[in-house]
Amino acid sequence: MLDRKDLLGLEGVGREEILEILDTAKGFVDIPQRTVKKVPALRGFTVVNAFYESSTRTRTSFEIAAKRLSADTINFAASSSSVSKGETLLDTAKNLMAMAPDCIILRHQLSGAAHFLSTQVTCHVVNAGDGTHEHPTQGLLDAFTIREKKGAFEGLKVTIVGDILHSRVARSNIHGLSTLGANVTLCAPPTLIPVAVERLGVRVEHSLDRAVAGADVVMALRVQKERMEGGYFPSPQEYFELYGLTNARMKGADRECIVMHPGPMNRGLEIASEVADGPRSVILEQVSNGVAVRMAVLYLLVVGRKTRETAD
Ligand code: CP
Repeated sequence: MLDRKDLLGLEGVGREEILEILDTAKGFVDIPQRTVKKVPALRGFTVVNAFYESSTRTRTSFEIAAKRLSADTINFAASSSSVSKGETLLDTAKNLMAMAPDCIILRHQLSGAAHFLSTQVTCHVVNAGDGTHEHPTQGLLDAFTIREKKGAFEGLKVTIVGDILHSRVARSNIHGLSTLGANVTLCAPPTLIPVAVERLGVRVEHSLDRAVAGADVVMALRVQKERMEGGYFPSPQEYFELYGLTNARMKGADRECIVMHPGPMNRGLEIASEVADGPRSVILEQVSNGVAVRMAVLYLLVVGRKTRETAD
């Protein structure tokens, strides 16, 4: 069973560990179709959702996941907590620990915040997105969705197009999908590609037509205006012209190619509505799968560890 205290990123997480999470998630996928959408696996455990940055999908998904496992859930938003009075992450963590939670889910604007928290608390920590670093459960739900649609990862051509530079989703997907055997191509203007990213084993392509040619999966990423100071491209119109996913640009992809986006989307900037809402799109399936994947992560971290401790 997954032998970790925390899930902070997909860098360094092995193929077998990722597959164990995906296989476990598969067992949770049908729970929303049941009359009673609950299993007792985390009854008696407490999960804290600590969100220092705004979120729709991740926060809601973790709360639903924890509740479907019968955990007690506490939601902590920085804007309505004592963080707004100047309390540090460390002091907040110490105070939360004084209330004995079993797991803290942390989203934070600073890269490395989840690693820092994990060194300060004895409970489990799950990174729900830290700055531009990683968003491991998004990478896992993307891998789960790809496996559901494509069956296997080996040799799969996955193109990630958009604001790679600021994207924690891109980093988690690069680590996760490469570990699983997919061939990952990144596509963006040179200003939105991290320096020397090829060292992670990916191909970089600045032409969208070349990047999409023959792709099995195309994942569009949001242009993260909130992390941009100054101009990374001449205009939104020019960006959409060169890097926006349209039906015309998708013509070169494999006939069975699927289109993904982690959300939230800038329609008309990185993706046209005809693609986002079109037959290739699996964007809402990603969201549904996210609940099952987060249930699996919580279950394997919290129950797996307790089971091992009892056995020891
Ligand atoms: N994909 C994702 O992280 O979305 P939210 O910012 O809404 O959580």
